[in-house]
Amino acid sequence: MSSPAAAALPGGLAQVLGAIVGPRHLVVEPDLRAGHEVDWTGRFRGATPAVVRPGSTAEVAAVVAACDAAGVAVVPQGGNTGLVGGSVPLHGEVVLSLRRLDQLGPVDEVASQVTVGAGVTLAALQRHAAAAGLAYPVDLAARDTATVGGTIATNAGGVHVLRWGPTRRQVVGVEAVTADGRVLSHLSGLTKDNTGYDLPGLLCGSEGTLAVITAARLALVPAPAHTVVALCAFASVAEAVSATASLRRHLDALDAAELVLGDGMALVRAVSGRPAPFPNDHPVYVLYEASGRADPTDALAEALHAGPAPLDVAVATDAARRAALWAYREEHTSAIATLGPPHKLDVTVPLGALARFVEEVPRVVERVAPGAACWLFGHVGDGNVHVNVTGVDPDDDSVDDAVLGLVVASGGSISAEHGIGTAKRRWLVRQRSAAELDVFRAVKRALDPNGTLNPHVLL
Ligand code: FAD
Ligand code: MLT
Ligand code: ZN
Repeated sequence: MSSPAAAALPGGLAQVLGAIVGPRHLVVEPDLRAGHEVDWTGRFRGATPAVVRPGSTAEVAAVVAACDAAGVAVVPQGGNTGLVGGSVPLHGEVVLSLRRLDQLGPVDEVASQVTVGAGVTLAALQRHAAAAGLAYPVDLAARDTATVGGTIATNAGGVHVLRWGPTRRQVVGVEAVTADGRVLSHLSGLTKDNTGYDLPGLLCGSEGTLAVITAARLALVPAPAHTVVALCAFASVAEAVSATASLRRHLDALDAAELVLGDGMALVRAVSGRPAPFPNDHPVYVLYEASGRADPTDALAEALHAGPAPLDVAVATDAARRAALWAYREEHTSAIATLGPPHKLDVTVPLGALARFVEEVPRVVERVAPGAACWLFGHVGDGNVHVNVTGVDPDDDSVDDAVLGLVVASGGSISAEHGIGTAKRRWLVRQRSAAELDVFRAVKRALDPNGTLNPHVLL
């Protein structure tokens, strides 16, 4: 989906912004702006008059206030790995890149917490926590690029939600800038603090529409001494769901349960050249990960016996073999991207409806887009399926309409973890009541009365 070229900045604003961040960090050259104007999938492409790269919270506040006063809309951007078209300037907005806010505060080992800048990547945060014997449990394949600010703004899920919850569960304090340049800072991280509205909770999942996140206080968890990964093959999605439910009942240490289908496995192998995990192909695979202070390998094997028996199992305990098994699952996003910009529909359905939903989706897609290809994978432990459709024009959203209609009819959610962005805005009314949307708009007006922050996202 592309949009017209961006207008130039109104008179004087470029000088004001350049004076705030320094001329080097006001990026106006077309080739340097280019990577900030298109999303990771290539489906959403816009144009901006400038990318502004502040280096401190005070600079963020001054930039946002100047844009607000000049009536210029702003798109906050972290790693630009978002998958719903919310991080790019589709309507000529200024791009506010937060990547320079990459300070890593000292790990507070007493509280198991850390304060970091919004531009810190997940991978840098994970390494920082590991050096103190702790772990940041939010993890996803874009870890080297996705930032703390972006993961908070989207309330990112990832592969460990089953055990540790989404980003919202880890955020115990936040510093953020409102559209008029006020700084809200509440970073004490107190476990008990009943002093009014929960601003971190409100900003988690707000997709850059309410305030610009500049720093966060995050809860850390113990780093596991042992981790085991098992790739299990099943005859059907129904068996995979039932085996996963059984494992959740029998195993305390289950971190991840990730669904892969036979055609996705074949695509990943074709793109990457990886060998087959088993002598025979299977229709369905689930990758399980368990970890803990004690080695969970035997407990995982025993727990697997309690449910439907897998057709094949590959187990890995050392880091290299674990990574090799994870690659079959994590490389889905990049393998699908080789087929052209996909329509990405990140949805949840109740676990009891999941197997039927997975069967139904290709039929629904075939009806509205004959010949299109469907790629399904996801986080089976929390009912989150990633429906990817390739071979459909980026602007043709009949496929999105059909699949999201099926999701709503199945009692699910049109966004499990990627957010609404611009991609799913038109379907939000099917998911949220008029009363809820009124309250959403009132909150937006209270924090951003001029509609400066991501005005085309979410609402
Ligand atoms: P961006 O893409 O830059 O921005 C995302 C949204 O947040 C935009 O609306 C933007 O305006 C807003 N925003 C960014 N920074 C700020 C800030 N500091 N203050 C206010 N608003 C801000 N997501 C999952 O949930 N689970 C996954 O498993 C997962 N896996 C992925 C794998 C791959 C290969 C890729 C490419 C993406 C994946 N994603 C996943 C999606 C994406 O990585 C996450 O949504 C991530 O949280 C985005 O972080 P970012 O820094 O790239 O944000
Ligand atoms: C994943 O789980 O791999 C992601 O959410 C990315 C995607 O949906 O492609
Ligand atoms: Zn996901």
